[in-house]
Amino acid sequence: MQELTITRPDDWHLHLRDGAALKAVLPHTVRQFARAIIMPNLKPPVRTVADAAAYRDRILTAVPAGQSFEPLMTLYLTDNTSAEEIVAAKASPFVTAVKYYPAGATTNSDFGVTDMSNCDRVFDVMQQVDLPLLLHGEVTDPAVDVFDREKAFIEKHLIPLKQRFPNLRVVLEHITTTEAVEFVLATPQIAATITPQHLLFSRNILFKGGIRPHFYCLPILKRERHRQALLQAATSGNPKFFLGTDSAPHPRDSKESDCGCAGCYSALHAMALYAEAFESADALDKLEAFASFYGPDFYQLPRNTEQITLTKTTWRVPDEVPFVEAGLVPLWAGQELTWQLA
Ligand code: NCD
Ligand code: ZN
Repeated sequence: MQELTITRPDDWHLHLRDGAALKAVLPHTVRQFARAIIMPNLKPPVRTVADAAAYRDRILTAVPAGQSFEPLMTLYLTDNTSAEEIVAAKASPFVTAVKYYPAGATTNSDFGVTDMSNCDRVFDVMQQVDLPLLLHGEVTDPAVDVFDREKAFIEKHLIPLKQRFPNLRVVLEHITTTEAVEFVLATPQIAATITPQHLLFSRNILFKGGIRPHFYCLPILKRERHRQALLQAATSGNPKFFLGTDSAPHPRDSKESDCGCAGCYSALHAMALYAEAFESADALDKLEAFASFYGPDFYQLPRNTEQITLTKTTWRVPDEVPFVEAGLVPLWAGQELTWQLA
């Protein structure tokens, strides 16, 4: 196949940051995606409908002239989020979901929830008004091995949560394990997003010839058998699995440091990366539904009507793209990809 034309996709998990960083990265997303679920982990986080409205305005102002993009906003759940805020979020035309970060799990998660049961009142209202809950599904217990934190979250928190709130619509974000795939398959009212890095790479890449900070994200890359399970899920044609890049830009000096930040930057070339992964599984025919149909279907939004075209062209991912004071190193920098957005 030399050319692939599909319905314009959406990114169901995206970090855009703010200010100069937002202006630098947003054009990359807008070239490919019509809409994106915007993560609320700013400093301070987006906690109220008013915060989300103001952030949405800043995003819309940063959209390049003549192009269109719809940011789907999320609220950052804290121990103190009120039921009233959930009702207001549901009533607002642009808040699409609520994001749960366990306190301390990842970048800018200090305001996150300290104990999931603190939020039962809020989950109850979310279930009633049908507002989806997006989960960063990792435990933060330092005694749990970092590679087991997703599995432990499912056992310790997610299974009980779904027992308490069976009709709450949940997205388990950026899944990384066979256990997550199996849980999503077996449980009603739950879907999952899958990133390009977790489809393309196992944890070996983190240490290939030395330590590779630009492959470090959370949840961390896992063993090859998990990657195979994710690739199988993404290319299976099951609508519970859809595209979410988790593109998470950090300046080069924050990644290449004695305590480097978690996050891979994939918004530059996300669709090329996904095409590479799907082609490796001989499943390019399944890319359109994963990227463009199952997400809007889950979120009960219309599918896009425009199209994008990818061509079979070998090109080299740049070593760096302009960002803030320091540059931004994209995922797979300096390496070749064989699909390119036309
Ligand atoms: C994200 C970020 O940098 O905001 N980092 C990451 O590794 N995925 C936070 C997150 O989604 O965990
Ligand atoms: Zn994320």
